[in-house]
Amino acid sequence: METTTSLLDAAAAGDLVLLDPLTEQSLLQTLQERFHRGDIYTYIGNVLISVNPYRPLPIYTPEKVQEYHNCNFFAVKPHIYAIADDAYHSLCDRDRDQCILITGESGAGKTEASKLVMSYVAAVSSKGEEVDKVKEQLLQSNPVLEAFGNAKTIRNDNSSRFGKYMDVEFDFKGEPLGGVISNYLLEKSRIVRHVKGERNFHIFYQLLAGGSAQLLQQLKLRQDCRHYGYLNHESSALSGMDDAANFHAMQDAMRVIGFSPAEVTALLEVTAVVLKLGNVQLSSSFQASGMESCSIAEPRELQEICELIGLDPSVLERALCSRTVKARDEAVLTALSVPQGYYGRDALAKNIYSRLFDWLVNRINTSIQVKPGEQRKVMGVLDIYGFEIFQDNGFEQFIINYCNEKLQQIFILLTLKEEQEEYVREGIQWTPVEFFDNSIICNLIENSTGGILAMLDEECLRPGVVNEDTFLAKLNQLFATHKRYESKETQSARHIMDASLPPRCFRIHHYAGKVTYNVTGFIEKNNDLLFRDLSQAMWAARHTLLRSLFPEGDPQKASLKLPPTAGYQFKASVATLMKNLYSKNPNYIRCIKPNETKAAMLFTPELVLAQVRYLGLMENVRVRRAGYAFRQLYGAFLSRYKMLSARTWPRWAGSDRDGAEQVLAELPIPAEELAFGHTKVFIRSPRTLFDLERRRQERVAQLATLIQKMFRGWRCRTQYQLMRKSQILISAWFRGHQQKNKYKQMKRSALLIQAYARGWKVRRAYRRYFRSGASACLSNFIYRRLVQKFLVGLGQNLPPLAVLDRTWPPAPYKFLADANQELRSIFYRWKCKKYREQLPPQRRALLQAKLCASELFKDKKSLYPKSLPQPFQGEYLGLTQNPKYQKLNAVAKDKLVMADTVQKVNRASGKTVPRLLLLTKEHLVLADPKAAQPKTVLSLGDIRSVTVTRFSDGFLALHLKETSTGGTKGDFLLVSSHLIELVTRLHQTLMDTRAQALPLHITDQFSTRFQKGDVAVTVVESPKASSDGPVCKKRGSHKMEVLVH
Ligand SMILES: Nc1ncnc2c1ncn2[C@@H]1O[C@H](COP(=O)(O)OP(=O)(O)OP(=O)(O)O)[C@@H](O)[C@H]1O
Ligand SMILES: [Mg+2]
Repeated sequence: METTTSLLDAAAAGDLVLLDPLTEQSLLQTLQERFHRGDIYTYIGNVLISVNPYRPLPIYTPEKVQEYHNCNFFAVKPHIYAIADDAYHSLCDRDRDQCILITGESGAGKTEASKLVMSYVAAVSSKGEEVDKVKEQLLQSNPVLEAFGNAKTIRNDNSSRFGKYMDVEFDFKGEPLGGVISNYLLEKSRIVRHVKGERNFHIFYQLLAGGSAQLLQQLKLRQDCRHYGYLNHESSALSGMDDAANFHAMQDAMRVIGFSPAEVTALLEVTAVVLKLGNVQLSSSFQASGMESCSIAEPRELQEICELIGLDPSVLERALCSRTVKARDEAVLTALSVPQGYYGRDALAKNIYSRLFDWLVNRINTSIQVKPGEQRKVMGVLDIYGFEIFQDNGFEQFIINYCNEKLQQIFILLTLKEEQEEYVREGIQWTPVEFFDNSIICNLIENSTGGILAMLDEECLRPGVVNEDTFLAKLNQLFATHKRYESKETQSARHIMDASLPPRCFRIHHYAGKVTYNVTGFIEKNNDLLFRDLSQAMWAARHTLLRSLFPEGDPQKASLKLPPTAGYQFKASVATLMKNLYSKNPNYIRCIKPNETKAAMLFTPELVLAQVRYLGLMENVRVRRAGYAFRQLYGAFLSRYKMLSARTWPRWAGSDRDGAEQVLAELPIPAEELAFGHTKVFIRSPRTLFDLERRRQERVAQLATLIQKMFRGWRCRTQYQLMRKSQILISAWFRGHQQKNKYKQMKRSALLIQAYARGWKVRRAYRRYFRSGASACLSNFIYRRLVQKFLVGLGQNLPPLAVLDRTWPPAPYKFLADANQELRSIFYRWKCKKYREQLPPQRRALLQAKLCASELFKDKKSLYPKSLPQPFQGEYLGLTQNPKYQKLNAVAKDKLVMADTVQKVNRASGKTVPRLLLLTKEHLVLADPKAAQPKTVLSLGDIRSVTVTRFSDGFLALHLKETSTGGTKGDFLLVSSHLIELVTRLHQTLMDTRAQALPLHITDQFSTRFQKGDVAVTVVESPKASSDGPVCKKRGSHKMEVLVH
């Protein structure tokens, strides 16, 4: 809303079409006011005026790009992005090729504007690796062309010294595919000459400042600018411009575009040649004939140039100092004077450079060109010098102004054509308006039979004396009555005295003003001659690039036909350009320079007024307003102004057109001020529009108040209702909660009371059924149940039957502990019984023997534990197997219990002798081992008792009854290695046969009876005892010591 208001701002309208009154003064004032507000852009319809701010403005940010992307042209502030967006969208949506014509004088901001347009289009068109590469190549063509084609001038530090037209080509989706660049009229005279305070083309300074030492050496250059005749002799550096950095940026840009390193080197070599040519000095000499001639003063520079381009120095020297003239099929070599020599040298330098520049543009085109056959749409951007009026205007100004005249012609034709077409389209009565048609001026200049350019060409080609005076005379004669042509002569013919028009000048009344051209230099510049010897010398060089620049130097192709003149070439390229532009939808950007000092915020009205004049802005506005100043689609108009009628506000049910008519019908607007087309409403004068706008603003203020009022009321009402609803909700919830709590409490109490009451009732009803023993009965029942459970559980979970496993589950209740213990022992005994029952008889006997041994010896004799693992074999002698023991076997018969070898202790000495011992069920037999004859046979009834020691020895005293027959010699002292078994078996046999136990003594001191009386035996534990057995030592006749281990 704010921006549209800015368009219609009566004080400084964003669109000058709305200026009222329209005067140069009001136009200037509007521009000035907007400039000071920082609004550098203003429209005239869809023409954009851009006033150079000379300071960075924050209006080119990515956010701004987004703001203007797909914007409604008239709904946003005037901006170059809006123009670019409009053009881009017409291109994509309406499939119309576009061109953006940027004009203005030097330093007005044309190049910046063209870059802004390009960068905007690059930013809004779609993205992708391939597309980004194309965009990058298109954008990077700028630094390269600026390095070679721009220079510092007094008016602009980065002045483009060539005209540029760039076609950017898009596919049907609006993605850039590539482009084509055309260049116009490079200011090549700058190569050899420039005004003090200006510079030659940037590339020379960039090369010297940014080139590495190695590169400069390769190019045979010195870093110091002052060394070169073609460069400034004063300081060359520019503030705010870093030549070295720009050189590197330019090299990077070339890489992006696709220049090979070899191409870059060749390009720089040719650039270096141009620079060095300026240092080739000539000196005068005289030939034998007395004719003046010139020669190279210092061959070094020439030598180096020739080394760079691969040419014999003598060839170049000859081409620079002499000239071949063809006279009647005969070639004559004539020497050149020093000025002629310098003329040739400079012409060569200019030609090399301008051709190099053309080559550069073509090379860039090769990289960015689109493959043929693809369907494409084109957006052309033209950045070309604007109208130039100087004190002294020469051939260049003439040509430039001619170009601008043609651009103005396009503008008038296309704008008016479009305007008229629109009226026809809309079905509106249209009376053609008066406007200045500049085709008469264009014709004056370009008419191929009688135009100024044609006359100039004619003069240049004409044999005989040719100079500017003859040319001017011709013009004076031809255009003596032309309304737009003046010269001293035509004025005097008309008796006009005009001191401002000097002789040798002619004046043309351009659409933008009168310009006086000085004819001096016209012929020479139009001819733009390069001596053929020089082009042939260049062609002879081995340097491929340089050679390719001079195809006419090829002697095979040499023709006597003169090359086309500069004027002719320019006219042709302007014609191509015009044809190109006519086929496209034009968009205009008119750049204005606000001051001469490049100062920010300074607006010099006189200077701007001059530009307003030669940009033809008044003309622009007038043409735009020739019909109706304002037009808008019915829909847009209605939505903007519908509040002005009570019938259309807030909603209109009918068609947009009826709505718009309704709105306007209710307003006091004269009928001739309005026209209703098929789709648009037209308003003739800005005054009416402003009146409409004022009414709208008043109404908007009223409506805003109304809306505010309604809104505030609505807001308060809804808030109140919301609060009320909330309050009701909260209290409902609260009450519910309270009641619920109360109910819960009541329910709890009721239940409690009920429980007590029921309990009491039941107790009272059942009291008579209760007995005194009820508890015992119950407890018995419970106990029984528990016991039952315990027993059943035990039965189901009996521990394993392994005899050695003594595990038993613990009692689940304390009262079952004793019973559990009892059960455990019963179970264990039962387990053992079961085990015993399944034993075989021998094993049972053996175990019984072992049991018996345990009863006899356990914890009494230390030999016992050692005997535990030894099984009781009984038969250790092998009586049955060994025939030697036949007799003994006979003695034992079937009653043998045990047969073993024992040591018998000699009663007298205590020494031991081996004996065989047989224990039968009736006897104990001792036999001599050698003879195997029984020596002593004792009835078991004779055995009184047996004594053994406490220790782990095999000593035993066999006490016999005194009455025994076998024991006449007294008791036997024996040592057995199976003592435990022997005693056990003896005991068992006695028990079995005689049902009496063996009296067994386990002691350390005992008395034994020998033949000679009793002997007291003392058992002593001593280390002296041998490990084989105990040692018996007789101490006197009644004592014996048994040393045991
Ligand atoms: N929109 C802008 N914002 C800020 N500065 C600008 C803008 N446009 C131009 N300038 C400044 O003005 C200078 C001159 O602009 P530019 O080179 O575009 O002029 P030009 O019209 O192309 O001149 P010439 O005809 O000499 O090439 C720029 O270097 C820049 O400093
Ligand atoms: Mg420029």
